[in-house]
Amino acid sequence: MHMSQPRINVTRRLTFAAGHILAKPEWDDARNREVFGACAGDHGHNYELEVSVSGSVDEDTGMVINLREVDRIVKDLVIHDVDHRHLNRDVPWLEGCLPTTENVALAIWRRLEGRLPSARLERVRLKETENNAVEVERG
Ligand code: NI
Repeated sequence: MHMSQPRINVTRRLTFAAGHILAKPEWDDARNREVFGACAGDHGHNYELEVSVSGSVDEDTGMVINLREVDRIVKDLVIHDVDHRHLNRDVPWLEGCLPTTENVALAIWRRLEGRLPSARLERVRLKETENNAVEVERG
């Protein structure tokens, strides 16, 4: 009988603070306010980022991946570029991107995919406020 192996996800949480403004230049103020609410003005958020990867458990270490390694890679590729920066103008890989939580989470996914050795990226969760979060998952 074939017993399927459960998939094991491991998750590292990191935080950053960044500014953004959600406004489309081709829309007037009223329309931007209507669609984006308080985010239509310049302001910042304390973001929480969760990065989940899967893989098989290494027999020697008992781990899928060393979370210190995940932490280092995510800091190098993402946090270093966005922490205490303005997402509309300071981040090369967000250029031309309206920095909604969705768009930023997707950009982070694309930045990390394939960059974590011996583990597969499964999920990027970006929490913008206590009440709002976006998840990007492997399709
Ligand atoms: Ni905002």
